[in-house]
Formats: sequence, C-alpha cells, structure tokens
Amino acid sequence: MDSASSSARTVAACVIGGIVLGASVVALHLGAGPAAPSLPPVEALRRRFRRRHRPVRVYMDGCFDMMHYGHCNALRQARALGDELVVGVVSDDEITANKGPPVTPLHERMKMVRAVKWVDDVIPDAPYAITEDFMNKLFNEYNIDYIIHGDDPCLLPDGTDAYALAKKAGRYKQIKRTEGVSTTDIVGRMLLCVRERPVSDNQSHSSLQRQTKISHFLPTSRRIVQFSNGRGPGPDSRVVYIDGAFDLFHAGHVEILRLARGLGDFLLVGIHTDQTISSTRGPHRPIMNLHERSLSVLACRYVDEVIIGAPWHISKDMFVTCELGLSLGKLGPLIYIC
Ligand code: CTP
Repeated sequence: MDSASSSARTVAACVIGGIVLGASVVALHLGAGPAAPSLPPVEALRRRFRRRHRPVRVYMDGCFDMMHYGHCNALRQARALGDELVVGVVSDDEITANKGPPVTPLHERMKMVRAVKWVDDVIPDAPYAITEDFMNKLFNEYNIDYIIHGDDPCLLPDGTDAYALAKKAGRYKQIKRTEGVSTTDIVGRMLLCVRERPVSDNQSHSSLQRQTKISHFLPTSRRIVQFSNGRGPGPDSRVVYIDGAFDLFHAGHVEILRLARGLGDFLLVGIHTDQTISSTRGPHRPIMNLHERSLSVLACRYVDEVIIGAPWHISKDMFVTCELGLSLGKLGPLIYIC
C-alpha cells in the first residue's frame, strides 16, 4: 500500500468516525441510546426545534369581579412568564358557590378581561378549581404549558387548595399579588362613600382626605412604566383625545375607548384629577384615586397614552405641552371627543 492511499484511508476513517461520534452525541443528547435511536437524529432535532420554538402558553384564571389594576397587574405578570396568555373567567355560578355572588356578570367580566392588552385569548365559564378534566383540557386542547395564580392562598370551601393538581403536575407558577387593592376593598370604599355622603356634602369633607385613609396604593414610576406602551404617535398619526374620570373602570369605559380608538391611530386619554372630580361630581367621588384610575386606563388595549391629571378645560397650551410629552412623534390632525 503506498503512503498516498494509506493517508486517504486514515482521513476517510476519521471522517466516518466523526460522523458516528457526532450522531451518537446528538442521539444521547436527545435522550435516545446510540445503538437504537427511536428517531433519525435529524427528525428528532427538527421536532425538538419545533417544540422549542412553539410559543409558551400560560393560563391564568380568576373571577375578575369589578376588574381593577391589581387584576391587570396579575395578567401583566402572567403574560411575562410566557409568550401567550389565555385567561379563564370563572362562571357566575361557580363564584356564587365558592365566594358569594359576583357584583358584575360573566359577560361584563369577559369584556373587561378581553380589553386588557396582555391577554391573548379568553375562556368563558372556567371552573373555580382546576379539576383533572379541565387541566387535561388545558394541556391537550389549549396547549397550555403553565397554570398561574397570585401568591395568595386560593382555598375551596372544604379548605383544599384550588391549584393542588396543577402543582402536583409540576405545571404551576406563581406571580406576586398586588398589595393595596381588592374587589372587597373597592366595595368597602363604595359603602363608605354612601355612608359618608350626607355628612360630607354638608361638611365638604374632601374626597382626597377620605382616600388617603382608605387607599393603600403606593404609586411608583416603575409601575406606571410597566403599564405604559412606551410609544408615541407616528409622524402622520391621527391622534384622538378623550378625557374623563374613568372611576371604577367598567365595560362602558372599555366600549367608548374602543370606539374612540377606531376614529384614529393613536388614542390619548386625559384623566381628570381627584380635585376636579370632587368639585364636579361631589365630594364623595372619586372612589379610585388618580393613579389607580390611570393604571386601569393604561392597561386597556385601545389606549396608547394617558395624561395623568388632565385639565377640565381643553386649551391650546395643553396640546402644545402634550406634543412635548409625546415627542417621539409629531401630533397630526387631532380629534377631540367630548
Ligand atoms: N390578584 C392580584 N392582586 C390583587 C387581586 C387579585 O394579583 N390585588 C390576582 C389573584 O391572585 C388571581 C387573579 O388576580 O391570580 C384573579 O383574582 P380573582 O380570582 O379575581 O380573585 P381575588 O384574588 O379574590 O381578587 P379580589 O380580592 O380583588 O376579588
């Protein structure tokens, strides 16, 4: 054998050896033994690639009664744990059986949840507890990867954990509950406001004073940034402006914001100050303070930007200031809805 053919054989042996070794490493990495791989490596790799590149779908359920910014913040955090967020809205009957009757009916709660900008899909009439059947439906029909809930205990009337099965399956994740707000707290504020009304009307008890007693919400710039879109209007945007109190953000607000957004390409919402609302609607209002109202509006998918504390009277100056505030784009033709 001459030296040329011997070195050719050595090279060929190295190449074949390398291929075999590579295939074995790939097969081992994929969890199959090298001697009898269940799938050709390329197909296994392709499947793994497809699996990895499938969006991670997360599921959060809840009552979302009198939807508030605490719920929106829960949905925001849940969405951040995956690529797509599916929300199960618990049926009226299930809420009644587990917590007592809801204030807002299912169709309104659905509308509110759907309007939140971090929500991709909504399932109506979700069960209060994750049952085995429903969990399998979530995994197999809705391709859900994880079930998510706030870090508060969610107990059934018999004292058991509503998420026990999801936890056991290793498919449960938790987000941080937002302090300072709950449906019960809001109903409490409303009752307080009704009780105080005759007294406050006479004594001009300011809503602001009352709110500092009952609102435990601490607004931070980080929270506002988390809720913001961070985008201004484009150079040729048709900017629509709408203002109001947006107190106890509800399905009617969502509907008008949807319609307003439909009139242009950028919706700017002016939110009146607590003082403006107290002086125009009575000292017992608003129920939610300026920052709380701003977060609820900002979470709405139809809203692009808010003015936190908009003046009652619209002036030319205000829009000049606005233009500075929205310096990413120049305000185009402006539509004002009143
Ligand atoms: N949630 C939250 N922060 C709040 C209120 C609710 O993170 N301040 C979360 C809950 O942990 C849950 C989701 O929002 O994952 C939906 O909550 P929901 O079923 O509506 O009920 P509650 O937790 O009882 O909310 P609330 O007390 O406001 O009715």
